[in-house]
Amino acid sequence: MNQPIPKERLAQARVLVVGDAMLDRYWFGAVDRISPEAPVPVVRVNREEERLGGAANVALNAKTLGAQATLLTVVGDDEPARKLKSLLERDGVATLLGSDPQLYTIVKLRVIGRSQQLIRVDFENTPDHEVLAQMLADYERALPEHDAVLFSDYGKGGLTHIPRMIELARAAGKPVLVDPKGSDYSRYAGATVITPNRAELAQVIGAWSSEAVLHERAHALRRQLGLEALLLTRSEEGMSLFDAAGEFHVPAQAREVFDVTGAGDTVIATLAAMLACGLPLREAVAHANRAGGIVVGKFGTATVSYEELFA
Ligand SMILES: Nc1ncnc2c1ncn2[C@@H]1O[C@H](COP(=O)(O)OP(=O)(O)OP(=O)(O)O)[C@@H](O)[C@H]1O
Ligand SMILES: [Mg+2]
Repeated sequence: MNQPIPKERLAQARVLVVGDAMLDRYWFGAVDRISPEAPVPVVRVNREEERLGGAANVALNAKTLGAQATLLTVVGDDEPARKLKSLLERDGVATLLGSDPQLYTIVKLRVIGRSQQLIRVDFENTPDHEVLAQMLADYERALPEHDAVLFSDYGKGGLTHIPRMIELARAAGKPVLVDPKGSDYSRYAGATVITPNRAELAQVIGAWSSEAVLHERAHALRRQLGLEALLLTRSEEGMSLFDAAGEFHVPAQAREVFDVTGAGDTVIATLAAMLACGLPLREAVAHANRAGGIVVGKFGTATVSYEELFA
């Protein structure tokens, strides 16, 4: 089951990532005094760091694993958009960026002084419908050149047209993966697989009191939405796949846990790369679970390489 995928085969696999891209920004500095203007510390910034976040991090994960990745997303006409683009280019992720002049490119800025996060500042607003509608045409053009479509929904409004996009991908015979958000999953109907975590699934089917209740409700949701499968990621409990054949559970693989943020991104990106290679879902899940176990053992980096996954 953990048979390595030949590297050359993975290099042919093309994943189209669609969703809410973000820039994670960190300002590190020294705190020497309290501001004369208000009772707050003054941070003298001496170092900046920027990382791809949200759908951009998902695309980076597919690329780092050795697949080809394209990111389709909407950005503003601003400095963070240019930064996002240059980071994606540096890392070899192809881009289809819709530009919305009234949009703030999503930035999560953390200000860190004395090794302590002092504040997080978020820049975001809702993208324009016209721009998103125009991007549907880019999506349709890109579809034939990809082997799997991955929707990374962070609830920021970039996926207004997801029902139509899923329909187009399925009509073209492409596997569709969704990392869901919110409580209305009807917009994900017809997808191949959705990958909620425990809290996300509980928001939709309610908290479950036993595995039997979970099993029953997960299958009911799967049938209701016409999904091939539902993959519940369960942090330290590993993951459970609910499909037409029943249930498939894999235990968590992590040896040591340092940094769990972004594990969900690594999991769905790995799953998409494997499906793009033509692997059956259950085999893909075993690889994705190993990738999740590896990434939580790393500090800072939220990606897993081919060599790490198949070492
Ligand atoms: N504490 C942990 N111990 C072991 N494995 C873990 C742990 N947390 C996450 N994992 C691995 O990563 C996978 C995905 O984690 P999780 O279910 O927390 O996703 P998530 O909540 O979507 O993550 P995030 O949104 O922070 O990226 C798990 O199925 C498991 O394989
Ligand atoms: Mg997640």
